[in-house]
Amino acid sequence: MTEVLVSGLTKRYGSKSALHGLDLTIGSGEFVTLLGPSGCGKTTTLRCLAGLERPTTGRVVMGERTVVDIERRTFVPADKRQVGMVFQSYALWPHMSVSENVAYPLKVARVPTRERVARVGEMLDAVGLAGYEKRPVTALSGGQQQRVALARALAARPGIIFYDEPLSNLDSKLRYQMGQQVRALHNQFQTTSVYVTHDQEEAITLSDRIIVMSEGEIVQDGTPSELYDHPQSTYVADFMGFQNILPGTVVAVSDGRADIRVDDTSLVVTGVATTEVVVGERADVAFRAAHVRVDRQPSASGAGRFVGVVERTTYLGSAVNLLVRADGIPLRVRVEISELSADEIPREGEQLSFAVAPARAVVISQQKQQSESEYLTVATNAIVSPR
Ligand SMILES: Nc1ncnc2c1ncn2[C@@H]1O[C@H](COP(=O)(O)OP(=O)(O)OP(=O)(O)O)[C@@H](O)[C@H]1O
Ligand SMILES: [Mg+2]
Repeated sequence: MTEVLVSGLTKRYGSKSALHGLDLTIGSGEFVTLLGPSGCGKTTTLRCLAGLERPTTGRVVMGERTVVDIERRTFVPADKRQVGMVFQSYALWPHMSVSENVAYPLKVARVPTRERVARVGEMLDAVGLAGYEKRPVTALSGGQQQRVALARALAARPGIIFYDEPLSNLDSKLRYQMGQQVRALHNQFQTTSVYVTHDQEEAITLSDRIIVMSEGEIVQDGTPSELYDHPQSTYVADFMGFQNILPGTVVAVSDGRADIRVDDTSLVVTGVATTEVVVGERADVAFRAAHVRVDRQPSASGAGRFVGVVERTTYLGSAVNLLVRADGIPLRVRVEISELSADEIPREGEQLSFAVAPARAVVISQQKQQSESEYLTVATNAIVSPR
């Protein structure tokens, strides 16, 4: 298990900057995920940590060893860092069998033959490929090839493994199973893992900690539940599946909660303040479609309650997504069908009452967000784009 300390990491490609001075610490034995949209710098960060890319400035310390210090002209290449790597494209050697692929890093490390054979056997067992030793890797399914890549990355017992979207070529069921296997192997072999994905669900289910990136910077860093429940920007909220993000003004604050009057409406929504907010300031309130309740017998009006007309329904099998117009603005609502009788399933054109519990909404100051204009663009897209 290896601890990693990164400071002031930048990477420029010509005149364009891909990383703007990252500082981060990855604890020994931790499973950390870099999460963010395409082009935000996840792969560049991973490649700089692994030694496949030379940063423009910065320092990287792995365990006791400084592997990058650009000022002092220190740069240890990937093959001297004792790291394992797993890529989206598997990157197996096509002319080698399963066991030859897994044995390769052990050969390079001059592990004696007897131990090498034992280690390959153990690794193939761990990934469920015992019996496939002689099979050419070209005669394996995508999921099996990815398991060979996992076994190969773990074979030399690296202190740290880097994963770059290793599961994105697999179908959703296999992806889930393989994700669970990646996490189980992390625990079993007690490595440190740095994992890259743009899939929020994958990040949440696998990680001890998630680092959300935007345009070469870290925007929030926390446990999956911290990010899921307390996003500190609309950018992170959008990424964490808050389908409703509404700009407005703070009209009341008490006990860590704030009331927001949504712009151009009479709607007031109460939520948990995830950043500091004061009355009168501009803020966004965000909540998930699944956290809006249909109120069949509305008993009260007030904060978090609104009447809306169902404009569109999308059948999802176990649930229905609704596009609702309330006081002129579109809102997204998700209703679980198992909780309803047939005549309770909302229909297009129907007028209904809805409620959002204060504990299920978050209020985010617009001033406290790092790059307001950028986040507001994301927030606006989140409201108008169908999902
Ligand atoms: N070799 C390169 N030369 C020039 N620009 C590059 C190079 N590699 C990456 N970039 C740029 O750096 C930025 C970050 O790229 P990076 O590959 O790290 O993104 P990413 O977050 O991994 O995206 P994705 O999810 O699409 O893989 C992008 O704007 C990309 O175009
Ligand atoms: Mg990438």
